[in-house]
Amino acid sequence: MTFRVVQLSDTHLSGERGYGVRNFDIVVGDVNDARPDLVVATGDLALDQPDNRGDRAFARARFGRLSVPWRALPGNHDIGDDGPDPWMGEPVTEARRSAWCETWGPDWWAVDAGQWVLIGLNSLLFGSGLAAEAEQSSWAAGAAAAAAGERRPVAVFLHKPPWVWGGGEERDQKTMTAAGWAALQECVAAADVRLFASGHVHQFRAAVLDGAASVWAPSTCFISPGPSAFGGAKLVGAVEYRFEGRSVAWRLLRPAGMVDHDVEQLSAGAESLRDGPRYPVSP
Ligand SMILES: [Fe+2]
Ligand SMILES: [Fe+2]
Repeated sequence: MTFRVVQLSDTHLSGERGYGVRNFDIVVGDVNDARPDLVVATGDLALDQPDNRGDRAFARARFGRLSVPWRALPGNHDIGDDGPDPWMGEPVTEARRSAWCETWGPDWWAVDAGQWVLIGLNSLLFGSGLAAEAEQSSWAAGAAAAAAGERRPVAVFLHKPPWVWGGGEERDQKTMTAAGWAALQECVAAADVRLFASGHVHQFRAAVLDGAASVWAPSTCFISPGPSAFGGAKLVGAVEYRFEGRSVAWRLLRPAGMVDHDVEQLSAGAESLRDGPRYPVSP
């Protein structure tokens, strides 16, 4: 049995500034034709500002065009950022998280995928100190122990990458905090985690480290200009995973017609996309 998953990430959708809508519609058309068993959306689903209800509603409605089962996880642009220096001074809060869950559903979940267990986690909670952090951690430890008891491999999906790898690369806002990563490791310590699938960096990059694969899914919407400090591929697209027996393989999906929008051109000099030029798209 093969269980196929498509990971969409960093869709950054908005009806007022619909920069990423055409790319998103192209990917959705491709996915609806290819009919994977599941789509996982790993955060930054709405454009930029976590309290923008209109963008959140637009993004949720657009995901309604998927005709296959899907699950979502929040990104920093959906519920606020983690760490000591959150983006635009907007930290993750319980109010932002609750608003997201009302629209999108649970921000942590488990799905059976043949022999595998897919565990989706809210990466912004780790190290946040919010009440929901302890709740998620206790749930994740239970899910990890259950998978370990059944000797099943685990794939973890989340927004921010747990770490960076390679010479000279340093942890910053591109990854979870060191304390967050330590807390996540503790939760899933019982499990045989073979894959960490994340988004957030807007680059496609993959490696197998200490027996676990790390895959960074690209954004469906935009890239940042210049060479990658991480050696990743700066392009838009999505990732397909094939879970077969106890193994997993992945490949980049890049349906024809997708455009590598450059975030600096989209924002046209504004500090963030929320203040970029209007580009209305009908719902
Ligand atoms: Fe993003
Ligand atoms: Fe992000």
